[in-house]
Amino acid sequence: MEQDAFIHHRPHWKTHIGFLLAAIGSAIGLGNIWRFPYLCYKNGGGAFLIPYFIALFVVGMPLMILEIGLGHKMRGSAPASFASISKRWEWLGWWQVIFVMFGIVLYYSVVISWCVNFFFLSFNSGWGQDPNSFFFQEFLMLSESPFAIGDLRTPIICSLLLVWFLNWLIVFSGVQKGLERANKIFMPLLLVLTAIIVFWSMGLSGAKQGLHIYLKPDFSRLKEIGVWMDAFGQIFFTLSLGFGIMIAYASYLPKKSQIVKDSFKISIANCLFSLFAGLGVFSILGYMAHTTSQDVREIVSQSIGLAFVAYPKAISMLPYFSHLFGLMFFGILVIAGLSSAISILEAFTAAIIDKFHYPRKIVISVLSLLGFLGGIVFATQAGLYWLDIVDHFLTQYGLVLGAIFECIVLGWFYKTKILRQHINHYSVWRLRRWWWDISIRIITPLVLVVLFISSLVKELSQPYGGYSWVAIILIGRDWLIYTLFFAVIVAVHPWKVEPRERILLS
Ligand code: ALA
Repeated sequence: MEQDAFIHHRPHWKTHIGFLLAAIGSAIGLGNIWRFPYLCYKNGGGAFLIPYFIALFVVGMPLMILEIGLGHKMRGSAPASFASISKRWEWLGWWQVIFVMFGIVLYYSVVISWCVNFFFLSFNSGWGQDPNSFFFQEFLMLSESPFAIGDLRTPIICSLLLVWFLNWLIVFSGVQKGLERANKIFMPLLLVLTAIIVFWSMGLSGAKQGLHIYLKPDFSRLKEIGVWMDAFGQIFFTLSLGFGIMIAYASYLPKKSQIVKDSFKISIANCLFSLFAGLGVFSILGYMAHTTSQDVREIVSQSIGLAFVAYPKAISMLPYFSHLFGLMFFGILVIAGLSSAISILEAFTAAIIDKFHYPRKIVISVLSLLGFLGGIVFATQAGLYWLDIVDHFLTQYGLVLGAIFECIVLGWFYKTKILRQHINHYSVWRLRRWWWDISIRIITPLVLVVLFISSLVKELSQPYGGYSWVAIILIGRDWLIYTLFFAVIVAVHPWKVEPRERILLS
């Protein structure tokens, strides 16, 4: 009786738009602002949009529908949903939520904490005349190797504390009062600030050159396999697929839900946002090139270099309101980052609550503390190296492997037909067998296996990023292995209420 009452109290979204905004908030993250524009530039400009949108329709959307459909049907987090299919597959759900909780969100929160620091530095362009040496030497105080841990960086630790406090506060307040309310503020704010930044940047002299470099199509690049791999890899991370997030979010939906339509809306909104944000990023790089009489190509850099070196440099050069511009840019990064971090936290919290029935407030308080403590290593002088290695392994291998298994379990053991019929039962937009089943059973796993193998081949030919093999093995590979080990341990622990019974009761 007591258990029945517990299950009947599964949280749910107050409004449909609340769910959509939370899912879009999870998808839109740091990756949209600093990774997508760079990838586009690097891989043939506008021509990259072809593999990118193909990846979206062939892999991204089918998987999004799968995750939302699964969470909706099983009314549970990733482990609960996989366990409802078969207890044999429960470990897969745990592995997904464990490596994102005890991996991705640890360093992701540290990057948000850098953005918080840079937000405050924007008040007086605190990065000075040489943002490159400021970032690496003064701010990170980067040591010479991953094992030269050095000291803790106090400014990073302080802002990390703030980030975890915000993560805690939002998820602690629950699905409606925390996640839904936060995203209802975050998403419109993000859109307005991004629009201001984009139009402001596009009005600067030299912006046209930047946009030209960003979008000018070079179709000859489409012959290269690396371009396609970048597109498929990016779709995956950017849509937060394989994180267990969409499964948990969908489990809070009402029975009558438009799964196919919503999956389209979430995916398209995310990808259009990336494209839009890129206009701002490249316009300002064009402006900087114009002002310093350099070529835009000499200025463009990847992710961290783009956000914390190139951008601050460009901001300092703005003729007016440069501080305001900096505040808005780093504000955007903080908001986009937080809305993704809280979704990761929720995916894990939901999993623990489903299995162990612990109260949300205790689960999230313990998790936030562990999350903060776990992030400390990334806030040391060797933090950037650790972040780089762990990110590489978790995203290139963890996420990809998890999704391959997801397709195998759903496509071959459970049968896509059952899930398709469930989704179609409620949907106005109907799923077609020739598109969805074939994608989940054959195309998506095949593409992911190719992605996985080619990463592995590259990996074995030379250690990633020029690090030592010892660092690669002890930090990267072992991180994956430990999380898998814990996943198996948690999976064999008995349920308070058996997974299939949970669905009947809810
Ligand atoms: N989807 C999130 C991002 O792109 C995790 O950053």
